[in-house]
Amino acid sequence: EVNASGEEMPTYIVGTEAQFPPFEIVDSRGKVVGFDVDLLNAIAEDQGFKVQYLDQDFAGLIPALQTGNIDIIASGMTITEEREQEVDFSEPYITAGLALAVPINNEEIQSVADLQGKTVAVQTGSTGFMKAEELKEAGVIAEIKDFPHVNEAIEELKIGGADVMINDLPVTEAFIAAQPDVIKIVGEPLNSESYGFAVRTGNTELLQKINTGLENVKASGEYDELLTNLPKY
Ligand code: ARG
Repeated sequence: EVNASGEEMPTYIVGTEAQFPPFEIVDSRGKVVGFDVDLLNAIAEDQGFKVQYLDQDFAGLIPALQTGNIDIIASGMTITEEREQEVDFSEPYITAGLALAVPINNEEIQSVADLQGKTVAVQTGSTGFMKAEELKEAGVIAEIKDFPHVNEAIEELKIGGADVMINDLPVTEAFIAAQPDVIKIVGEPLNSESYGFAVRTGNTELLQKINTGLENVKASGEYDELLTNLPKY
C-alpha cells in the first residue's frame, strides 16, 4: 500500500498495556481499542503510516522501545523528566493526574494526610508507583504492593491487602463506572500529568510525523470528537 506521496507505507509496532480504560482496553473480539489507539490511528491515517498494536506489561515498554521490539509507546504514559532520559516524547496529547482510591466502605482515608503507616497498591513502573516510593521515603506510607495491571491493584484493595491505591484519575473513574460498589476516589488529585507518545531517542523522523499528525487531528476537530466518544469499559 502506498501513501499520498506515492511511498510504500511504513508499519510501526506500537507497544501498550491494554488494561487501562478509557485509554486502552481489549474489546470482546480481542482487539486493542481506546482513546490512545483512536488518536494514534487518526495520526497514522493523516501521516500515511500503518500501526500494529502489541499488548505487554507497562514496565517493559521502555526497554522494548530501546531494544527496537516496538517503535512507539501509546500507553497513557506520563511525560516525566526521568523518562525523557530514556525516550523521546511527542507533544502532550492529554492531561490527567494521580488520585487516591480506597475500598468503598473505608471512611478513614480522606486525603494524603491520612496515609501514615498505610499499605499502597500501584501499577508496576507507573507514576503512581513513583509517587508511592516518594511517600515511602518520606516516612509516610509503610508498604508498597505493585501489580502488572490496575485491576489487580483494585483486587488487592477489595481483599484488604492494601489500604489505598494511587492511580491515574480517569482510569480509576472508568473502573468505578463499570463496577460502582468496589472502590471510591477520595480527596483531590495529587498532581497534574501530561501523556505523550514515546519513540526511541533520536528517532526525529517518526516523532515529527506524530507531532504533525497530532496537530492536524486537533485542527480538523477529530481530536475533540474522539474525546467525546470515549469507549465504555
Ligand atoms: N500515566 C501513568 C504512567 O505514565 C500510568 C500509565 C499506565 N498505562 C497503562 N497503559 N497501563 O506511569
